[in-house]
Amino acid sequence: MKEHAVSPSPTAEQTLLSVRDLAVDFELEGGVLRAVDRISYDVRPGEIVGIVGESGSGKSVSVLAVLRLLNVYTTGASVTGEVRFEGRDLFALTAKQMREIRGKDITLIFQDPSSSWHPVLRIGRQVAEVSVAHDTMRPNRVREHVEGLFESVGIPNPRVRYEQYPHEYSGGMKQRAMIAMAIANKPKLVIADEPTTALDVTIQSQVLELLRNVTADTGAALILISHDIGVIAEMADRVIVMYGGRVMEEGPVEQVLVSSRHPYTKGLLASLPQIDKTMSRLPTIPGAPPQMFQASAGCPFEPRCGLANDRERCREERPSLRQCGEDQFSACHFFEEL
Ligand SMILES: Nc1ncnc2c1ncn2[C@@H]1O[C@H](COP(=O)(O)OP(=O)(O)OP(=O)(O)O)[C@@H](O)[C@H]1O
Ligand code: SF4
Ligand SMILES: [Mg+2]
Repeated sequence: MKEHAVSPSPTAEQTLLSVRDLAVDFELEGGVLRAVDRISYDVRPGEIVGIVGESGSGKSVSVLAVLRLLNVYTTGASVTGEVRFEGRDLFALTAKQMREIRGKDITLIFQDPSSSWHPVLRIGRQVAEVSVAHDTMRPNRVREHVEGLFESVGIPNPRVRYEQYPHEYSGGMKQRAMIAMAIANKPKLVIADEPTTALDVTIQSQVLELLRNVTADTGAALILISHDIGVIAEMADRVIVMYGGRVMEEGPVEQVLVSSRHPYTKGLLASLPQIDKTMSRLPTIPGAPPQMFQASAGCPFEPRCGLANDRERCREERPSLRQCGEDQFSACHFFEEL
């Protein structure tokens, strides 16, 4: 059997982003930490792909590696594998070509709306500066363009808001402005890493809805990262479930919600509040996610898995991602038992 089977590839023209066998190692004092362990997936134009998993499962590191941004935030990260965007090998591009792609075709929205802004520059100017139009349009046209963007992301009073500084914006408004910046150049792919985690619950759903609407309007695909499978269930077309740096399950959201074929996904789903039941406490998956100092030979979920039953195969053999339903894939040796 192939070590790491992947989804049957959509044809090249259907694929916007293709990630193959992506792995990230950090050289630390205690040894090498494998944060992302040979993951593969595709993103098609216009679709919303959700990446879900507990803290430390490699969600952020994997997308930073795709964008070649890891070494901006850290040193000593080693990345292997292949990433293609519209067929272009991103790891073979020059730094300049990569910056052009990041500023225009692929944009990133971070979790924390405060640290993403320069504190002493007006928000309007910061959005204007990333805009490609900035280079070619007259200044008052650029401003009009930015005010139009503000309007499209529901920032009231764009003229006034343009002049304001980050501290004059609420968290939700800052995140709306971040979305304006992300769509300023009509990207083909937006990557949003926990874009609403730092916001109040009521604001969270508004910002998520905005993200869905603006990406639908501009035709951009969206990779949405969340530790909350409820958010992914609401938003995504397809879901990728990560654990211990690996993909555990992948498939269309409705299918995975109704008939997950992986014990880890089932655990995440069990922690969703049931609409028809009132629960005083949410069930959680017992145990803690692994620190992958050595990529485990077997299944990383084994120590916490209710289905493993001390079976040797779970401890010794890496489960590859195998097809378990129409367009659905599971990295569990025993998914047939679910
Ligand atoms: N700069 C770094 N140096 C060393 N280890 C790192 C670094 N960044 C991340 N890691 C480790 O890599 C692993 C994956 O981290 P990552 O941030 O991708 O997780 P995550 O799934 O995004 O979690 P969260 O939900 O908390 O954001 C973790 O074990 C983390 O400690
Ligand atoms: S391979 Fe074994 S340990 Fe891993 S999820 Fe399946 S049953 Fe559990
Ligand atoms: Mg993260």
